[in-house]
Amino acid sequence: MFNSISSQASKLVNLTKKNSVISKSKILTITSGKGGVGKSTFTANIAYLLASRGFKVAVIDADIGLANMQVLFDIRPRLSLFDYIEGRNTIDEVITKTPFNNISLIAGKSGYQYSSLKTSMFLTRIVDDIKELNNFDYVLIDTGAGLNEYVQEFLSISDNILALTTTDPSALTDVYALMKMLSRDKEKLLLCFNHTKKYQIGETISKSLINLAQKNRLNPNFMIKYIGNVSTSTNISTTSRLRKLFAHEFINDHITLQLQKVIDILLKEIK
Ligand SMILES: Nc1ncnc2c1ncn2[C@@H]1O[C@H](COP(=O)(O)OP(=O)(O)OP(=O)(O)O)[C@@H](O)[C@H]1O
Ligand SMILES: [Mg+2]
Repeated sequence: MFNSISSQASKLVNLTKKNSVISKSKILTITSGKGGVGKSTFTANIAYLLASRGFKVAVIDADIGLANMQVLFDIRPRLSLFDYIEGRNTIDEVITKTPFNNISLIAGKSGYQYSSLKTSMFLTRIVDDIKELNNFDYVLIDTGAGLNEYVQEFLSISDNILALTTTDPSALTDVYALMKMLSRDKEKLLLCFNHTKKYQIGETISKSLINLAQKNRLNPNFMIKYIGNVSTSTNISTTSRLRKLFAHEFINDHITLQLQKVIDILLKEIK
């Protein structure tokens, strides 16, 4: 458990823990450290491509800065994750169907007032509640920017964490800070490069990050797994602006193929 979670919250978390539920649902949290690197766009498109492979997918918009998953899926949900966190609604009540087959959304809410005590309790329960529903093969959690306490809560409940980054030095500095934090109590971080044309560039930078981790003696059992790259395309920003999903509109584009390759590896790595 991360240091920043108050001990009182941790005690309550333990009290609310149920016995581990056996379920098909696998949870993947997508994070970055640096904002604006393309997490939400990536998450929505990965969700679409997983769903078109026949998997049932739920996306959780965990951004309390600017909840934009509903914009990407072009829906206006009545309820959000925060109706669940505040105890007003059950998990199945806050799940909204999207226009896309096999994709459901638990919407976010912009400007939510975070309270660590309340949030810790409900976020620990959310994993069990979703697993108990057993409706989804994959649950993708899109976090907001930064490594604040709220994002840390979502990292702490997730077995699988994917960092999306660019090759920008400030984005890489943030990824390294994330590696340092996760290496204390996680086994692995999946690393994907956005706005990166060549697969090898992401691979080389991943190796440099691994070398830096070794040099700085981060936990040697903590693994970094490079899972691929996504190029920049004006079609991605244009489709977002038009409230359309890139991978749906450009199914044979080379960037969609890059995303498919990322998914091929993801499916092997997610447990
Ligand atoms: N590969 C790409 N090529 C071109 N534009 C992209 C690409 N990926 C994302 N974008 C654009 O970059 C902008 C930021 O993307 P997005 O909102 O997904 O980032 P984010 O990491 O979720 O941001 P935040 O940290 O604020 O949540 C959007 O306008 C999106 O359309
Ligand atoms: Mg986002």
